[in-house]
Amino acid sequence: MSHTNEEYIPALSYRFLTPFFDFIQKFIVRDVRYKSLLIQQANIQPGQTVLDLGCGTGTLAIMTKQAQPSAEVTGLDADPDMLKVARYKSGQRKAHVKFDVGFTNKLPYPDASFDRVMSSIMIHHLKTPEKITTASEVFRVLKPGGELHIIDFGKPHTWYGKLIGPFLHGFEEANDNIDGKLPEIFGAPGLKTEVVGHFLTFFGDLAFLKGVK
Ligand SMILES: C[S@@+](CC[C@H](N)C(=O)[O-])C[C@H]1O[C@@H](n2cnc3c(N)ncnc32)[C@H](O)[C@@H]1O
Repeated sequence: MSHTNEEYIPALSYRFLTPFFDFIQKFIVRDVRYKSLLIQQANIQPGQTVLDLGCGTGTLAIMTKQAQPSAEVTGLDADPDMLKVARYKSGQRKAHVKFDVGFTNKLPYPDASFDRVMSSIMIHHLKTPEKITTASEVFRVLKPGGELHIIDFGKPHTWYGKLIGPFLHGFEEANDNIDGKLPEIFGAPGLKTEVVGHFLTFFGDLAFLKGVK
């Protein structure tokens, strides 16, 4: 899969699966469990500005707005079809979130725009060079003292994670995750990063990453 600014890996790898994304997230992955934990971890304060990178159908961004209604929440995704669903959901739930089409490695925001950058299960869609440019962009758009909060595949630490880790490692984009390199990659531009928790799913071991500017 090529990784120019015009191409990206869709949410479920194949476009024809996109309409099933929310159903799978809600009933099979049960994403609300780890998204709630990520929101707790981010400890968003009233009035803060928050960016959800690769927001997909907007579940995390909407939950964030509901958890801290005075925060200004923005969701960014490369896929306009995912954002159509996100906008519909935020309207239905009366949770005002701004959704922008864009790429994580070229964020359409000025320097020091956000108090928090969050991301759920999207970093493993990026090959190494794209992760590196995304890390620089995250650093650029964070305010001094701002924080990055990511949940994504991490270095397997359970027996189950170790069992399916080699399978995930077969996907080039997931290599850095499974090798435990996300703290290093996101720390390189200057964030102080650490893995602060784990979450076991049927699809593998997830890790919570925190970075502070
Ligand atoms: C597995 S989905 C996760 C969506 C959402 N964060 C969630 O947890 O429900 C990954 C998302 O990343 C988006 N994506 C992939 N590559 C991207 C890129 N380079 N820039 C922005 N979004 C991207 C896809 O369009 C997709 O919506």
